[in-house]
Amino acid sequence: MGQPKWPTPFKTSMLPDRHGEKPADKHEDQRAPLIPDNRGMNPLLAKLQPYPFERLKQLFASVTPNPAFKPISLGIGEPKHATPAFIQDALKAAVATGLSAYPATAGEPALRKACTAWLQTRYDLTLDAATQVLPVNGSREALFALTQTVIDPTRPGATVVSPNPFYQIYEGAALLAGAELHYVPSDPARNFANDWDSVPAAVWARTQLLFVCSPGNPTGAVMPLSEWQRLFALSDQHGFVIASDECYSEIYFREEAPLSGLEAAHLLGRTDFKRLIAFTSLSKRSNVPGLRSGFVAGDAAIIQQFLLYRTYHGSAMSPVVQSASVAAWGDEAHVVDNRNQYRTKFAQVTPVLAQVLDVKLPDASFYLWAGVPAGWQGDDAAFAKALYEAESVTVLPGSYLARDFNGSNPGEGRIRMALVAETAECLEAAERIARFVRAHPKKA
Ligand SMILES: Cc1ncc(COP(=O)(O)O)c(C=O)c1O
Repeated sequence: MGQPKWPTPFKTSMLPDRHGEKPADKHEDQRAPLIPDNRGMNPLLAKLQPYPFERLKQLFASVTPNPAFKPISLGIGEPKHATPAFIQDALKAAVATGLSAYPATAGEPALRKACTAWLQTRYDLTLDAATQVLPVNGSREALFALTQTVIDPTRPGATVVSPNPFYQIYEGAALLAGAELHYVPSDPARNFANDWDSVPAAVWARTQLLFVCSPGNPTGAVMPLSEWQRLFALSDQHGFVIASDECYSEIYFREEAPLSGLEAAHLLGRTDFKRLIAFTSLSKRSNVPGLRSGFVAGDAAIIQQFLLYRTYHGSAMSPVVQSASVAAWGDEAHVVDNRNQYRTKFAQVTPVLAQVLDVKLPDASFYLWAGVPAGWQGDDAAFAKALYEAESVTVLPGSYLARDFNGSNPGEGRIRMALVAETAECLEAAERIARFVRAHPKKA
C-alpha cells in the first residue's frame, strides 16, 4: 500500500490572525506550532490558503526597508482612531455585575432592542428584536458560523459564490463547510461592480450561499439597488442564501449613506427579508475592533437555525461586551465624528496619490484600491516590495486579496492602502509613494 499523501503541515503563521485583519504578532510566531501537522485531523483544514499578510511577510523577508525613514504601514485594515471614552466607561461599569453568570446566546433583550433601534434610525426599518436580529462576536466569526449553518455538503456540488477580490474568511468558511467556491471578478470599468453575469446558470443552480460585500473590501464600492434586485431574483430562482457583509457601512464619502441589503430588500417589497442575512459590526463604526461585537439581521427562519448552531458552538457574547455595545449602538455623534476624520484624511491623501496612480475616492470603506503604473506590467507584488525597500512604506499587493480564477486574478496590478493611521502619517506615506513612482515609473 502506498503512503498516504499528507497535506502541508499546519503552522501558526498560517492562521489568519486573532481578530479582524491583524496578523499573528511576533510573540505568537515564536511559540511552538499549535499542531505539528494535521494527520488524522479534518482534511478540509489542508485546503485553507495562507492569509495575505503571511504572503506579504514572505515577500518582504529578504528586504531591508530604507532605514532613513520611519516605517509606515498601510497594509492592515485595522481601525486606529481612538475608542470613544463612553464605550470604555460602559465596559468598565458592567464588570461589577457582568461576569458572574453565563450569558444567553440570544443576547440580552436590551442589546437586541439597541440593534433594532439602530436599524430604525439608520435605515428606517422596523425589525422584530425577538426573531430578526442576533448579537455576534464581530462579523468575522458570524460570517464563518453562518456558512456552517447554511451549507449542506451532502448535496452534490455544494457551492459558495464569492466576490473576487474578497475578505478571506468567506473562502475559509466555505472550504471548512465542505463547499466549493465560484469567484466573481470585480470590474474596474464599472466602479468595481462584481460581474454576476459571469456566473453560469449551472453554477447558480448548485449555489447554496452567496457572499456580498458592500461597501466592499478592498474596492470600497457600494452595490446599487438594481444589482440587489438581480441577486434577489437569482436567490428566488435557485434558493440560495445571501450573506451581506456590511461592516464598512458607516464610513462613506458620498452624500448618500450606503444602501444595506436589508434596505434594498424592503424597497423591493421583500419585507420578510427572505434568504437574506446582513452582518453589521461595531469594529469600524465605533473604533472597537478589540470589543468583538456586531449583529446579524434578516430572515427570521435562518436566524432561528443560526441561534441553534451558535448555542452548540458556544458563541454567546459576554454581558460586559453587551453593555458596552448597547451604549455604542445608541450613539451616533461619535460615528459622525469618525466619518468626518476619514473624510478629511481621504480628501487630503487621495489627490496626492492620484497624481501618480490610477486611484480615486471610493464610495465608502477606509481603503484606496489603486492600479500600479503601466510600467510595472501589472506586477503588484514587485511594486509593493520595491516601495518597501525604497521608502519603508507597506502596501498590500492586490493579487494577494484575490484568486486566479477563469484565467485571471482581478487583484493583479493593484495595491490596497488602508488609511487607518492619523492623517499626517497617511499623507507622509502618500508623498513617499508619489516620490517612489516618479523615481521608478517602470519595473527594474
Ligand atoms: C470585509 C470584512 N468583513 C468582516 C470583517 C470582520 O470584522 P469584525 O469581525 O471586526 O466585525 C472585516 C475585517 O477587517 C472585513 O474587512
